[in-house]
Amino acid sequence: MEKLTGLEKIKTVVFISGTGSNLKNLIKFSKIKKSPIIIELVISNTIKAKGLSYAVQNNIEKQIFNFENNNTIENNILKILKKKNIRLICLAGFMKILSKNFIKKFDGKIINIHPSLLPKYKGLHTHKKAINNKDKFGGCSVHYVTSKLDSGKIIAQKKVKITAKDNLTSLAKKVLRQEHKLYPIAIQKIFN
Ligand code: GAR
Repeated sequence: MEKLTGLEKIKTVVFISGTGSNLKNLIKFSKIKKSPIIIELVISNTIKAKGLSYAVQNNIEKQIFNFENNNTIENNILKILKKKNIRLICLAGFMKILSKNFIKKFDGKIINIHPSLLPKYKGLHTHKKAINNKDKFGGCSVHYVTSKLDSGKIIAQKKVKITAKDNLTSLAKKVLRQEHKLYPIAIQKIFN
């Protein structure tokens, strides 16, 4: 990842699909002085993403794209990102898979937060898998995005303890709380 020079902040876009608690957290982080990023745009694959309201509340531009028609849509997005001089893409609960071509164009500049201790449990239903396997720990990872799903280099991770009392909801809640600590830490790590 490129290094920061002077006081310039890295223009960032956040991709979401749902609730957007990580987006909310990243917006809060971006506003503190030591944050290396400024969020210029929020992109969602659905108008139904609740998280879009955080963009509105914070006067951040939002755009919705129907990712079904992948190539054309992605090329349009690339044009927008280029025009806005975007240098970092943060995926935050974005549930679509970006094409190889898109990732290549932004190589090393796309990061994702994933609700497991990668390389364990790539893909979906991570908490269910951890509970079913009676794992002692769950957690979250921030990693670089490559064309292989959830397999890029890990930037940072946080662990949570899974107790006998935990169910899917309680574990997801615990992990999400750690995600909100982890994403800013990972971003600071890549620019320091
Ligand atoms: C988070 O737990 C995130 O790690 C996960 O979706 C949730 C989004 O929450 N992402 C993935 O599963 C990506 N494969 P949020 O919308 O409240 O940020």
